[in-house]
Amino acid sequence: NEIYLNGLFGTLPKLPMTFAELERRAGAALPPSVWSYVAGGAGDEHTQRANSEAFTRWGLVPRMMVGATHRDLGVDLCGIGLPTPLLMAPIGVIGLCAQDGHGDLATARAAARTGVPMIASSLSVDPLEKVAAEFGDTPGLFQLYTPTDRALAESLVHRAEAAGYQGVVVTLDTWVTGWRPRDLATANFPQLRGHCLANYTSDPVFRARLAKTPEEDPQAAVLEWTGLFGNPLTWDDLPWLRSLTDLPILLKGICHPEDVRRARDGGVDGVYCSNHGGRQANGGLAALDALPDVVAAADGLPVVFDSGVRSGADVIKALALGATAVAVGRPYAYGLALDGTDGIVHVLRSLLAEADLLMAVDGYPALADLRAEGALRRL
Ligand code: FNR
Repeated sequence: NEIYLNGLFGTLPKLPMTFAELERRAGAALPPSVWSYVAGGAGDEHTQRANSEAFTRWGLVPRMMVGATHRDLGVDLCGIGLPTPLLMAPIGVIGLCAQDGHGDLATARAAARTGVPMIASSLSVDPLEKVAAEFGDTPGLFQLYTPTDRALAESLVHRAEAAGYQGVVVTLDTWVTGWRPRDLATANFPQLRGHCLANYTSDPVFRARLAKTPEEDPQAAVLEWTGLFGNPLTWDDLPWLRSLTDLPILLKGICHPEDVRRARDGGVDGVYCSNHGGRQANGGLAALDALPDVVAAADGLPVVFDSGVRSGADVIKALALGATAVAVGRPYAYGLALDGTDGIVHVLRSLLAEADLLMAVDGYPALADLRAEGALRRL
């Protein structure tokens, strides 16, 4: 309504109303190296495309005369009350998508304005404390890439606790970087250029490992940092991870029901079904196609979903398939690239408005209604 009313007075929306146009304009706005890093995926990007295409194989069956004048989009995620089921997925290089290079802060401000939580990546341009200071009343979550140095992992988690983060998302699928031809062709990996390492260079445990400070010898700091990764976590590490914090822990990258069961047995608070937006492994299942089995195995344990969500309708379909909350990655990065915090707010509000409108038009006033038998059909 706001958009149509503005139109009456001659003001048209400044930013695109479709994902395709958003992507096109972000591609023109971002520096080529940042663009290829953000937009690209693994291999020939078949899985990345499949993530979005999977949504077209599901359709909501409209219901009439249910009086869906009031919709309730609120959810409880591991004890965190959220006004809507939308989240911003962790994006390591988000800092670089902003014109001033401080995209993590711009994203946190969008979280404050919309109530849509940011899952702040470990790989940020600004340290996690500065990011959290911009959250306003919106809860934030911290994403952990677990370094081999356990003391450093502990330090990061304890800093996140102290800074007021309300949950920790541990990403499991990226202990080694996938085969990404766009970045390989340009030999570009932002972290190796020293970007996005603020959480490490500001960490006392990390700094104690260095002969010279990161300010004196930035290159040595980057090399030391690369040495901290490449070792995958195993299920044997889960008790240690669990012992680090009383905050809710969600495991990100879970697609197999057996992994859901192991996560449950390990005492985590939720699983995060994702294939990293198709950036890690090509030739895999669309994340949406993994979701029903993950939800079934979760058996009431909260399930966050991402990978391929491009519209409010996609958000609704993932919720109808049983996701507790749904995250977007690239869409908000593109909004940031085009218009900073305002651009992200535009993208998030558009997704939520479309989702809400769909619940009205299709007669599903509550999220629980979407999960009822017969609401969603496989086409
Ligand atoms: C990511 N993603 C990611 N995930 C994570 O756990 N930690 C991280 O630092 C990053 N970094 C990152 C950078 C970029 C440029 C992208 C696009 C993605 C994955 C992200 O959290 C999420 O899983 C996907 O982006 C979801 O897919 P869509 O919405 O981009 O299709």
